[in-house]
Amino acid sequence: MCGIIGYIGHQPATPILINGLRRLEYRGYDSAGVALLERGKLAVTKRAGKVEQLACAVDEAAAATAGIAHTRWATHGRPTRRNAHPHTSGGRVAVVHNGIVENYAELKAKLQAAGYRFTSQTDSEVLAHLIDHKLASGGDVLAATTAALTEVVGTFGLAVVCREQPDQLIAARRGSPLLIGLRADETYLASDATALVGHTDQVVYLEDDEVAVCTRGRYRLVDLQNRERARQSRTIELPLGTADKGGYDHFLLKEIMEQPQSVTDGLRGRLSSAEGISHLGGLNLTEPQLRGFGRLLVIGCGSAYYSGLVGKYLLERLTGLPVDVEFASEFRYRQPVLAPGTLCVLVSQSGETADTLAAMRELKRRGLPTLGLVNVVGSSLAREVDGGIYLHAGPEISVASTKAFTAQVVAQLLLGLKIARHRDLSLAEGQEIVAALGGLPGVIARVLESAPRIKAIAAKYAGCRQAMYLGRDSLYPVALEGAHKLKEISYVQAEAYPAGEMKHGANALIDEELLVVFLTPRNALYAKARSNLEEVRARGSQLIALGTQGDQDIAKLARDVITIPPVSPWIEPIVANLPLQLLAYYMAVERGTDVDQPRNLAKSVTVE
Ligand code: F6R
Repeated sequence: MCGIIGYIGHQPATPILINGLRRLEYRGYDSAGVALLERGKLAVTKRAGKVEQLACAVDEAAAATAGIAHTRWATHGRPTRRNAHPHTSGGRVAVVHNGIVENYAELKAKLQAAGYRFTSQTDSEVLAHLIDHKLASGGDVLAATTAALTEVVGTFGLAVVCREQPDQLIAARRGSPLLIGLRADETYLASDATALVGHTDQVVYLEDDEVAVCTRGRYRLVDLQNRERARQSRTIELPLGTADKGGYDHFLLKEIMEQPQSVTDGLRGRLSSAEGISHLGGLNLTEPQLRGFGRLLVIGCGSAYYSGLVGKYLLERLTGLPVDVEFASEFRYRQPVLAPGTLCVLVSQSGETADTLAAMRELKRRGLPTLGLVNVVGSSLAREVDGGIYLHAGPEISVASTKAFTAQVVAQLLLGLKIARHRDLSLAEGQEIVAALGGLPGVIARVLESAPRIKAIAAKYAGCRQAMYLGRDSLYPVALEGAHKLKEISYVQAEAYPAGEMKHGANALIDEELLVVFLTPRNALYAKARSNLEEVRARGSQLIALGTQGDQDIAKLARDVITIPPVSPWIEPIVANLPLQLLAYYMAVERGTDVDQPRNLAKSVTVE
């Protein structure tokens, strides 16, 4: 989603800003722009399309040592050069904005009545004119920005430059992340720490309704009433090496292949085979609290939600507690009936998803304990929850989630194991799960070795127009995630059903053209799944089965078979998902899509 980078220092600003935008590209965007403060002038350059097109249009050797830049992901108005940020007002003020100005129509009407001319279709342009309008009534750019923002309904991560105050950048936040990076006599602004890689690891996170005045190497924070706020900078772990594909053609493939390591990192120091339990330092829950919960509620969006659905099967079996799973976007506007004694688990790779944050805040308002299963250290969700488990999956750059999904399921298993061992789970059962998790990185490595075979299968079916994924029990949510991945990156219409539901409606879709991916490893429901598979085969669809190595029976029924080794049911959904990641990836490559930045999608969805 939209990205912001700002710089004020003594080095030429242009290369710093352009490289910062390159680092933010993974978030997904459709246009880019930069505003430089140069010799009493604001120089603005914008382009629809990729950062490289902007890089060709700007003068990297320009003398400016301060500026702001943006990658835009269109919400209001098409992805054109005009609608790209920065937006300016009379050549005096330039702004870049992440978020949505909900009352923009009303503000725009007022500003038009005051004589302002609008040149874009965006909601963000009102911010530039509104700040300019406030400047006209006296005061400096800080006062004008705070005055303007008190009139804004909506969310913002905002950076402002003003021709008349070339020695400062103004930044403001409400609901859309923004951080200040500090280094000697230089100051950076970024919507995402990735943009600071190579510059500084000293940062200050802005809180909601805070405004910062950034000068060379210094900053000052105020609230919207201009009251001073004090905050020390902190050292963060920067996601080094993120911009490197490590020899792979795409970040997505790199991230799939990294899973033996990312799972190892997520498990490090957290498993005790002697006690058959997990050690999770950040839960901030006492043993009596862990024993006392009567229900679990898991909330997320997209793949994080599907990881929660997998978690439901695992957590209910492990803890004996009822587990509800909700889309954050639905939860936040429902009137949920929340039982006291519910432990709420918010799942998010980025920790910045607007709906998930809103759900978490609603849960806190209702007085329920919140845990975050989050990948990005220091993200808004990680900072605001009562406790949590960092996923330690490493930076996930590709828009489609793979290693973070796996890490989310692993984290739910760790959480379930901890709760269950403080309840009824026996030592022997706990040790069985610890052993299964301990062996998981090795199993993942073996499954990923089948990539060349899956590539060949993908090439055969890449022309399909529709796909259906089927599975039972915890493999049903894996089917949902498999279909989700295929849709996202290959743009093939894909659905998923519990295999037993087929005859209640979806069977009508089956014909010779439909690609069916059937998850049927040798588990407790194998016989049931196998007979569902026979039904699909009888209707002549193109059938790929995912089965257990050595299952000759399945090999006779399906056109193509992808196998996984026999594994513990506790890790089976994680393992079964890996071939589906590879299948989606190779189908997308065959179809020539933009694998790492699929059309219309963003990595971190910071607006509703
Ligand atoms: C799927 C995908 C999205 C995200 C969803 C939640 O591949 O990337 O569906 O899973 O937008 O994002 P996070 O986990 O950052 O909250």
